[in-house]
Amino acid sequence: MTSSISESPQVYDDGPVRLFALASVLWGVVGMLVGVIIAAQLTWPELNFGIPWFSYGRLRPLHTNAVIFAFGGCALFATSYHVVQRTCQVRLFLPALARFTFWGWQAVIVAAAITLPLGITQGKEYAELEWPIDLLIAVVWVAYAVVFFGTIGLRKVRHIYVANWFFGAFIIAVAVLHIVNSAAVPVSLWKSYSAYAGVQDAMVQWWYGHNAVGFFLTAGFLGMMYYYIPKQAERPVYSYRLSIVHFWALIFTYMWAGPHHLHYTALPDWAQSIGMVFSLILLAPSWGGMINGVMTLSGAWHKLRDDPILKFLIVSLSFYGMSTFEGPMMSIKTVNSLSHYTDWTIGHVHSGALGWVGLISMGSLYHLIPRMYGRTAMYSTRAIDLHFWIATIGIVLYIAAMWIAGVMQGLMWRATNPDGTLVYTFVESVKATFPFYVVRLLGGLLYLSGMLVMVWNVVQTVRAGRIAPQRIPAALATA
Ligand code: HEM
Ligand code: HEM
Repeated sequence: MTSSISESPQVYDDGPVRLFALASVLWGVVGMLVGVIIAAQLTWPELNFGIPWFSYGRLRPLHTNAVIFAFGGCALFATSYHVVQRTCQVRLFLPALARFTFWGWQAVIVAAAITLPLGITQGKEYAELEWPIDLLIAVVWVAYAVVFFGTIGLRKVRHIYVANWFFGAFIIAVAVLHIVNSAAVPVSLWKSYSAYAGVQDAMVQWWYGHNAVGFFLTAGFLGMMYYYIPKQAERPVYSYRLSIVHFWALIFTYMWAGPHHLHYTALPDWAQSIGMVFSLILLAPSWGGMINGVMTLSGAWHKLRDDPILKFLIVSLSFYGMSTFEGPMMSIKTVNSLSHYTDWTIGHVHSGALGWVGLISMGSLYHLIPRMYGRTAMYSTRAIDLHFWIATIGIVLYIAAMWIAGVMQGLMWRATNPDGTLVYTFVESVKATFPFYVVRLLGGLLYLSGMLVMVWNVVQTVRAGRIAPQRIPAALATA
């Protein structure tokens, strides 16, 4: 009965939205748990237990892949499939292909979870997976593009809402980045060598790496911002004109900033300077977008007091603002000479990752999940509030500890005596970092606990709800 209704052309196709939303919550717990384990291993190296597959070097890429591509990726699939249908007022194009993207993406995640602990890797950060998995990613991603742009092509609303521009740019850019950076020569089933060599390899890798931040960790989540903040606040976007300027300025500028990851390397100096200048320019569109999101609450600030979902969405933007101010500063060569190699970078990463990517995803999922199960709200609003506070305190502990540790490390490493010898040995800086690693672990544990509260709330919501297909507005469905 339910399935025949949900297959009707009069209702939205939310099967893939539900699957991806639940998978995101599940993988969030797994990825963050691995984050907590590696944070503990950095504090007490004995926790590697001498087991190769459990060692820090193997679990670290498992953490980054799980949180970015499994947790973040599934949240992006879920929300983009949800948003594109509502804003175009049509069902998904090729529903079977949309389901293929779900199972294909889960296969990629499982393959990563098996191969990375086994030490099978290309050794390129955020692009570790070996070539057979890379091929599967390319196939799934092209299918994703077909479903997404096919749905836009079928739209009954002439205008393409700005959230879709951000989702669309994210899908196209990630396809290009992945295909170019993963070009490799296979020598066996599980071993390949990059098609590029030396400094070109480094440049391609960080063109990819930085745009993975710009498009995977930013553009898609801005798509969420432009749909879920207005929806949750019941207010239109503050300035639609600004959102268009924001879009073009952001996607143009990001593409050039990659060399800031390669300051003081063999990369030509002029290329490093281009990276620095474009990173500084990037502050403007980033803050323009943040202000547009926050100001959407104009005249409705009081809602922030009792709506914990809005707290997630708006506070995520303050962390976005913080990390997009910090990033341009760190891209200045003299600042980078202090921050590079230190935990300052890790603090920057997690203010973006936990604060921006994590909170905006959680807020959007809290809006989305009850509606996917025929409810107007999650099972427990108090649990959402509890999650918000535990997560926020966890983030503050994590990033403050890393900032202090990072600046301290940088200053200790560069301190010299009048005769030119170093004031501190490296191991002294490691010992001085210990208390900050304990605080970071505590922050991570809090953030993970918040995620477990979310799991409980999601399970209760799904159990108390039912799959209730949502109708496409009648006048438009038949237009
Ligand atoms: C419970 C939460 C988390 C904990 C405890 C945690 C912990 C860690 C640790 C210990 C590292 C290695 C740091 C080092 O190399 O010194 C790391 C790296 C990283 N984590 Fe997390 N993490 C968490 C959540 C997340 C989330 C949600 C994301 C993304 C959405 C994320 C993205 C990353 C990235 C990109 C790196 C690599 C940073 C770099 O190479 O500079 N983490 N994390
Ligand atoms: C205007 C925006 C931003 C700029 C200009 C920027 C700039 C930078 C710079 C200069 C570094 C240090 C490179 C190094 O010393 O190796 C860095 C590292 C990083 N940033 Fe940002 N950042 C920005 C926003 C963000 C956001 C919003 C996120 C996350 C959501 C993020 C994630 C990362 C990651 C994951 C790294 C570590 C890369 C690695 O070495 O593995 N950044 N960023």
